[in-house]
Amino acid sequence: MEDINVRELIETALNMRRMSYTPYSHWNVGAALLAADGTIYTGCNIENAAFTPTNCAERTAFFKAVSEGVKDFKAIAVAGGPDGQWDDLPFCSPCGVCRQVMSEFCKDDFRIFCAQSVDKYTEYTLPEIIPDRFGPKDLLG
Ligand code: THU
Repeated sequence: MEDINVRELIETALNMRRMSYTPYSHWNVGAALLAADGTIYTGCNIENAAFTPTNCAERTAFFKAVSEGVKDFKAIAVAGGPDGQWDDLPFCSPCGVCRQVMSEFCKDDFRIFCAQSVDKYTEYTLPEIIPDRFGPKDLLG
């Protein structure tokens, strides 16, 4: 039994691309992060003229959730592509920094859906996208 409404999660990520602030890359990414209690935290990428302060969609979603006291997650859907392209998106997977942020809060069963449309997506678990990760256990035991 699928305990995750993958379609709803992907639709939310696709819609969030419209909120992206991307005057430099024109590459819009949306994310939808499913918490253990069923709440979906949304995110988009937010760029900056100084470039390095840019925040990815995935981290926006995580930081929104954590800032509201939520630290238990099941899955995230991510969708990205160029300005003006809303269908049949290219494959877009989380950057290394976002994978590290996932490592901080998520366990091995956390699922990542890289979506190109509601019907076309690639699914990973956390260890698949960041094997041998450095995480809280390394410092806290
Ligand atoms: N980006 C994300 O938001 N998430 C990803 O998974 C890949 C990259 C953003 C960062 C930047 O605003 C733009 O996409 C181009 O790298």
